[in-house]
Amino acid sequence: MPQLSGAHAVITGGSSGIGLATAHAFVRRGATVSLMARGSERLEAAAAQLRQEGATVATAAVDVSDADAVRAAVKEVTAAQGPCDVLVASAGQARPGRFLELDDAIFRDMVEVDYFGVYQAIRAVVPSMVERRRGSIVAISSAAALVGIYGYSAYGPAKFAVRGLMESLRGELKPHGVHVGCVFPPDVDTPQLVEENQWKPAETAAISGTIKPIHPDRVALAIARGIERNKFAVYPDAGTAAIARLIPLAGSLWRRFEDSRIRSVTRK
Ligand SMILES: NC(=O)c1ccc[n+]([C@@H]2O[C@H](COP(=O)([O-])OP(=O)(O)OC[C@H]3O[C@@H](n4cnc5c(N)ncnc54)[C@H](OP(=O)(O)O)[C@@H]3O)[C@@H](O)[C@H]2O)c1
Repeated sequence: MPQLSGAHAVITGGSSGIGLATAHAFVRRGATVSLMARGSERLEAAAAQLRQEGATVATAAVDVSDADAVRAAVKEVTAAQGPCDVLVASAGQARPGRFLELDDAIFRDMVEVDYFGVYQAIRAVVPSMVERRRGSIVAISSAAALVGIYGYSAYGPAKFAVRGLMESLRGELKPHGVHVGCVFPPDVDTPQLVEENQWKPAETAAISGTIKPIHPDRVALAIARGIERNKFAVYPDAGTAAIARLIPLAGSLWRRFEDSRIRSVTRK
């Protein structure tokens, strides 16, 4: 069973939101952490917070959509802090909007950052995990990867792709001693949610607004437990877990619910 105590965890998107909360949760369990994100200032502020808790922290400013830069960043932090035992790929972005109103560039950008950003981080750490026959890789997908949702035609497919990658890797890496997990958060109270709320069509808000955003610490705790318990699917809240169980059985019920929420907005 993967242990966090004494592990070196690399966390992309570790300077904010779910990634930063996860870094705190891991440090409390005795892990050493390396944080990656683009902005150096937020990275250094996050590292300073964690060091105050007694953590050993490395940082690397990197855009996860740049494969060479991600490889170089992983090389740098593993040279400093030892091989990567745990990867949490949390770096990501969300841009909701109606299909007809979104530019092509947004569809590509979602895939570049949300899918290839995860893929590239995994590529950079997995060979050494397989060689050492140990490790854990966890990607943050989304509840929007369990069911298609109005307004998420650019974001949702990138998160479905993350889910597909992790489902394929689960069976492939298990015989090599590497745990694979995939996290499906609902709305989480982070800077990303504030940013995406500016763009959310009223119909999307009417659907997702039925569930109150959860605190990032709750997601972080679910991630830590998911790793310790060797779980594949990590649902940080009961509502998303129920959706995951029901959708395959009751997809038509979901579509009726979604249509009624959309009608409630268009009628106004
Ligand atoms: N919040 C939600 O409601 C929610 C729900 C479901 C899933 N998620 C997913 O959870 C993950 C974390 O989101 P969050 O809510 O914690 O967001 P957040 O607070 O905005 O944090 C995003 C992190 O990713 C980094 N990042 C963004 N683009 C990057 C890039 N191209 N290269 C490297 N780092 C990048 C950001 O730093 P820089 O900007 O400095 O690079 C930041 O550290 C995302 O994958 C998101 O899609 C979030």
